[in-house]
Amino acid sequence: MENNIYPIYDKMMTRQDKEQLLHQRGMMIWFTGLSGSGKSTIALGVERELHKRGILCRILDGDNIRTGINAGLGFSADDRRENIRRIAEVGKLFVDTGIVTLAAFVSPTNEYREMARSIIGADDFFEVYVSTPLEECECRDVKGLYARARRGEVKDFTGISAPFEAPTNPALDIDTTQQPLQTSVEQVVALILSLLS
Ligand code: ADX
Repeated sequence: MENNIYPIYDKMMTRQDKEQLLHQRGMMIWFTGLSGSGKSTIALGVERELHKRGILCRILDGDNIRTGINAGLGFSADDRRENIRRIAEVGKLFVDTGIVTLAAFVSPTNEYREMARSIIGADDFFEVYVSTPLEECECRDVKGLYARARRGEVKDFTGISAPFEAPTNPALDIDTTQQPLQTSVEQVVALILSLLS
């Protein structure tokens, strides 16, 4: 289809150039799990550990992205799909710049996560399932959203009135009720270091 768009990708410096500059490779670590499962908390810990080691990384997080580039998107299936599509496209830019990118989104279905994987590229996409059980997430209820969802005040709430499908073959499965935060952080850091070596 003619659209009068002329990408300049073939003239830009390459991903390889960026990776050589940074002495690292780009990758996407994709955290999925229920709201309150600990995705962002683990990602924050991983960011600090990587920074200490001189590894450049970037967190993309649901509540931040949804107040910026994805402001205006809600939680219908179509909006969630578009949310994840845009995040994957943005994430790919970071990965192509050689950056270790940590995405923390509920991303509740295999379909959305597979879309993200195909946008980013399977060789660069690593799924971390934060499998903290619903009862624990609901008990924590950091944002008070589970209580509101139970009262019917928040519609389509993942785990209560909207589905969550566990990933079938994640690179890591972390249940935060089974181990301290630092252990979860170290597991993800170990995964990343193994991919960098
Ligand atoms: S996703 O399903 O589209 O991947 P995303 O990770 O961006 O979700 O946003 C989830 C966050 O939005 C939750 O942690 C919670 O704070 C908030 N939220 C508000 N309404 C809902 C809802 N109906 N379902 C899930 N999360 C919601």
